[in-house]
Amino acid sequence: MSTSTATTDVPFLDLVTPHVELEEELTRVFQEALRTAHFVGGAAVEAFEETFASFCGAAHTVGVSNGTDALLFALVASGVRAGDVVVTVPHTFIATTEAIAHAGALAEFVDVDERTYNMDPGKLRAYLEACGRDPSGRLVSKRSGRPVTAVVPVHLYGQTADMDRILALADQFGLIVIEDACQAHGARYLSRGGDNWRTAGSMGRAAAFSFYPGKNLGACGEAGAVTTNDPDVAARVRKLRDHGQARKYYHDVEGYNGRLDAIQAGILHAKLRHVSEWNAQRRERADHYNRLLAPMPGIVTPYEPSWSHAVYHLYVVRTADRDGLIAHLAGAGIGTGIHYPIPLHLQQAYRSLSYKAGDFPVAERVAAEIVSLPMYPQLTAAQQDRVVSEIRRFV
Ligand SMILES: Cc1ncc(COP(=O)(O)O)c(C=O)c1O
Repeated sequence: MSTSTATTDVPFLDLVTPHVELEEELTRVFQEALRTAHFVGGAAVEAFEETFASFCGAAHTVGVSNGTDALLFALVASGVRAGDVVVTVPHTFIATTEAIAHAGALAEFVDVDERTYNMDPGKLRAYLEACGRDPSGRLVSKRSGRPVTAVVPVHLYGQTADMDRILALADQFGLIVIEDACQAHGARYLSRGGDNWRTAGSMGRAAAFSFYPGKNLGACGEAGAVTTNDPDVAARVRKLRDHGQARKYYHDVEGYNGRLDAIQAGILHAKLRHVSEWNAQRRERADHYNRLLAPMPGIVTPYEPSWSHAVYHLYVVRTADRDGLIAHLAGAGIGTGIHYPIPLHLQQAYRSLSYKAGDFPVAERVAAEIVSLPMYPQLTAAQQDRVVSEIRRFV
């Protein structure tokens, strides 16, 4: 057993170094806000929105308060109504289903793929084919009898779901697609139909991004955005984030206080200039891990299909004795995470949905075996080699 250290030699995440590196640029954002007193909305927000839309290859970006609100606004603005069913995966962060519930809808799950950990289109097809039709011809869930109107694929860990197959099914069954792109800034997907690379956030009716500090593009606080190619969806999100008004004190609908503040927008705009380079560095770190870990018995490295260009928000491996490995690495001063230990259908918060163990066997198996290793642009090859040598000692 390696010697136990009080300090973490290889932290799971390093949020200090990138901010120290950009201190001058970021300080200017604060100075500008102090000198102009433009704190909410205004030119800084608009400038960021325009640049982020073009980064994603989407026509519109609407900056909002966080990723959870981005999902909520995207769902509501795209036409999801109270009482609808929205289909998603159990292997994701709870914000995905919180947003569905906050829209008044009911989340129902389909299992994930054993290798990509994202929505399995075959399972989505089976779910949809099992649905019935109500007297007015609407698709209704076999499980709840409620109308099924939308699907939320999650681009987990920085890799897109298999969107061609999901979009084709959504088209066939008349469903709205909202991408949960909260972990996938700049991830790309090779659309076989058009044979072109599409960027996360440009493929569904709308998409939600989180700029929580640890994300590939992170704010210095809370922030999020909705992207869409549909100008009507964008206009509705703009209203929803600002108390339902397009003109001050003329409220067309009831909305939310869900705006992006100008300081966060300025910070995001400054950082956005670096994201492609940071994503490339994450991919290099992933390659380095893959080279060393893939041949190791007992470790399953991430699977990146030929149609995917992942941006490794997280680098997640699978191993039978996950808890033992985490304890060993912690003893060696190496930080890890689990994303996520309990699939949503088995969470206490969703007891009322009446799912049970065994309903989504892939998600359950994956949740029991995954561990996220340190992954960030500033991670050095020497640090990675230490992580790998400790894993080798353990397995
Ligand atoms: C997959 C996923 N969806 C939604 C969210 C919610 O984003 P936020 O924390 O900005 O509300 C997150 C954030 O961690 C996420 O990882």
